[in-house]
Amino acid sequence: MSNSSVTHEFIKGLPKAELHLHLEGTLEPDLKLALAEKNGIDIGQSTIEEVEASYRFDSLSSFLAVYYPAMNVLQDESDFYELAMAYLRRAKDNGVVHVELFFDPQAHTSRGVSFETVIKGYHRAVEEAPSLGIDAALIMCFLRDFSAESAMETYEQALPHKDLILGIGLDSDERDNPPLKFAEVFARAKADGFPVAMHCDIDQENSIEHIRQALLEIGVDRLDHGTNIVEDPTLVAYVKEHGIGLTCCPASNGFVGDDMKGKEIVELLTEGVKVTVNSDDPAYFRSYISNDLYILAKKYELSREQVVQLVRNSFEVSWISDEAKAVFLARVNEYVATQN
Ligand code: ADE
Ligand code: ZN
Repeated sequence: MSNSSVTHEFIKGLPKAELHLHLEGTLEPDLKLALAEKNGIDIGQSTIEEVEASYRFDSLSSFLAVYYPAMNVLQDESDFYELAMAYLRRAKDNGVVHVELFFDPQAHTSRGVSFETVIKGYHRAVEEAPSLGIDAALIMCFLRDFSAESAMETYEQALPHKDLILGIGLDSDERDNPPLKFAEVFARAKADGFPVAMHCDIDQENSIEHIRQALLEIGVDRLDHGTNIVEDPTLVAYVKEHGIGLTCCPASNGFVGDDMKGKEIVELLTEGVKVTVNSDDPAYFRSYISNDLYILAKKYELSREQVVQLVRNSFEVSWISDEAKAVFLARVNEYVATQN
């Protein structure tokens, strides 16, 4: 099969899993404006063009400086529900059939919105996802620029709702916030049976040390981003041996760094590491998952087999049962068999 057979159409139709998607990062300008008006919040912009013009970032911290204030428009349960439903409709158009959705409770509880409001709104959308042909679940992330105590408090707030939460993650500003800062709460989450992941963003200060801590000291099940691992062959061998997935996000990388890190993604794929492609914060990086796969495939001249392997990897390292994985992987095979 030649590279010319990797069309947008082919990628869109492939049944996909998305494993690195921040619900708060799916807040499109039109919904942001509508919620601002509904809730009587002045966001300083009144047109889509003005909102888009405020999206100026070239690093993780400059992105987060735009990202968090925008969340103010999310106030009641229906706002969280609408946000998640809007993403799920786009995900359906992108061929997503399974998604593990990150959410950041502290970004809302810290501004006076209750944990219950957030999780109930998001969970209502998760329950409705099958009506769109999507299997969805929630991953609760701690903000690493908040204290370890705040993460523990958040974990305790979540426990009464533990059946609504698939796993636990860690995101936000990595600078000076290493994985080990959260060792206690992650040990507790693991002891309680949650699978865990952590962001190890691209080209951070101490990237390799953070990846090492996440893998060897915390014992994560997946690394979010994590492409700097190519700098350490021992750690590459470790993730390969343990089947640990990396959730990479090409378009996002291109915004917060110099390039999409495609060279690293392809190198890891070729070595047999379970790398996956995801959209991260699609409303801000203007790219949903099919486009992320497409831009990577085009720039690095990936074959169909390579694209399909990336998609297979996502199901394989997802946090669903082996039976559910087998059903999804069979759907991928069927789809591929029908494409010439
Ligand atoms: N929160 C939303 N997107 C993020 C990213 N790419 N890295 C860290 N925290 C985030
Ligand atoms: Zn992310």
